[in-house]
Amino acid sequence: MSQNIVSSAREAVSIIDSGEYVYTHSMAATPVALLESLYEHALTKKDITVMQLHTEQPDTIDPEKLAGHLRNRCFFVGAPTRKLVQQGHADYIPIFLSEVPQLFRRRVQKVDTVLVQVSPPDRHGMCTLGISVEATKAAIEMADKVVAQINPNMPRTHGDSFLGRKLFDSVVEIDTPLVEHRPAPQTEVTRKIGRLIAELVEDGSCLQMGIGAIPDAALAAMENHKNLGIHTEMFSDGILKLMKRGAITNRNKTKHPGKVVTSFAMGTRELYDFIDDNPEIVFLDVQYTNNTYVIRQNKKVVAINSALQVDLSGQVCADSMGTRIYSGVGGQMDFMRGAALSEGGKPIIALPSTAKNDTISRIAPVLTPGAGVVTTRAHAHYIVTEYGVAYLYGKSLRERARALINIAHPKFREELERQAREVWRLEI
Ligand code: COA
Repeated sequence: MSQNIVSSAREAVSIIDSGEYVYTHSMAATPVALLESLYEHALTKKDITVMQLHTEQPDTIDPEKLAGHLRNRCFFVGAPTRKLVQQGHADYIPIFLSEVPQLFRRRVQKVDTVLVQVSPPDRHGMCTLGISVEATKAAIEMADKVVAQINPNMPRTHGDSFLGRKLFDSVVEIDTPLVEHRPAPQTEVTRKIGRLIAELVEDGSCLQMGIGAIPDAALAAMENHKNLGIHTEMFSDGILKLMKRGAITNRNKTKHPGKVVTSFAMGTRELYDFIDDNPEIVFLDVQYTNNTYVIRQNKKVVAINSALQVDLSGQVCADSMGTRIYSGVGGQMDFMRGAALSEGGKPIIALPSTAKNDTISRIAPVLTPGAGVVTTRAHAHYIVTEYGVAYLYGKSLRERARALINIAHPKFREELERQAREVWRLEI
């Protein structure tokens, strides 16, 4: 290995200077050791910006200490950055996941340095981005410098993930376990929603879904389905189970037949071991996986996404609770639209009917002021709660309100009807 290999993460990030825009490899590939060292290093510098999708980083960011030295800039907000964004210590950029790479490639957003966590070089000197290609590939293309953590625990993956070892300006070898996500616990509500979704999914469908209890429940209810395919932004343990049972064959896909297409994976070590050097799973640039033109080329695309709140006209809020940013736009609209354009496709939003121990109806008369509409009412087709399925496509406001009230929690239905009449002036 060449001489730019250093002995510590702190030394590896020391090539980052004041004023730089740093993109960090995200999701379960977050190079935690490099990020932690960057937070220390930044104290000797000024105005470093760390750009990211969701990251898995320790809860050690001290915004007061880092003020003037380092600030986070988030294209998606996850648990580690949520409080920072909500308190004004970090920035949130609302953007489709498919367009984050484009921001870099069109130079709308500058990238000076990229931090990555990669699999060890193979006999050709090629490392891989492992379980997370997302926007990192684009950031590397546009950056001046790449700082790499080589980790033997990072799976070698196929697709757009290959990177020549020569690309790295600074390298450190650190053997740490990857972040794991255990499947979310199921409740009677999530199981009911999962069964309702599974009933909407025909054999031969091509699925996109995220992480969490609802996608897991839906996948668990599809064990007897046949010839399912996967073209998604994200791959998790639920999909692995269906692959092992033979329900997923990818046989009917017109785009990448025989392959699972994804842009990143988050799950358990069992998932990461399955992915390792597995040519059946291809990790592609999120500008490609989430492109509606690509998505629509598969038939019967079923996109399964979630929401925080849906109003009586079918507007879907997924990134905020009122004015408080909770997550991000992500790939929801990319796939909702892609599924709608696919022949026989079904865009689905699935959510529990209530929040906070049944004290709040998530089917609301109107969205909370400031709520972010991620899927517009013109893009919404199927809304699913534990009480059933509301099919909104081609329906009037009056028909939508009726369908949505029918799948609201019974204790809120009367009030929703009153509001539909008074606020929306609908005769229902
Ligand atoms: N009012 C008040 N609180 C609410 C609420 C509402 N309308 N809706 C949800 N909540 C609370 C829940 O009770 C829960 O609180 P808890 O953590 O104390 O239990 C919390 O908010 C999160 O809700 P939950 O339903 O568990 O969220 P989730 O983890 O299933 O995520 C989204 C839902 C919408 C945030 C998530 O799917 C997302 O970020 N979507 C946008 C991006 C996307 O769709 N990408 C494509 C798939 S990867």
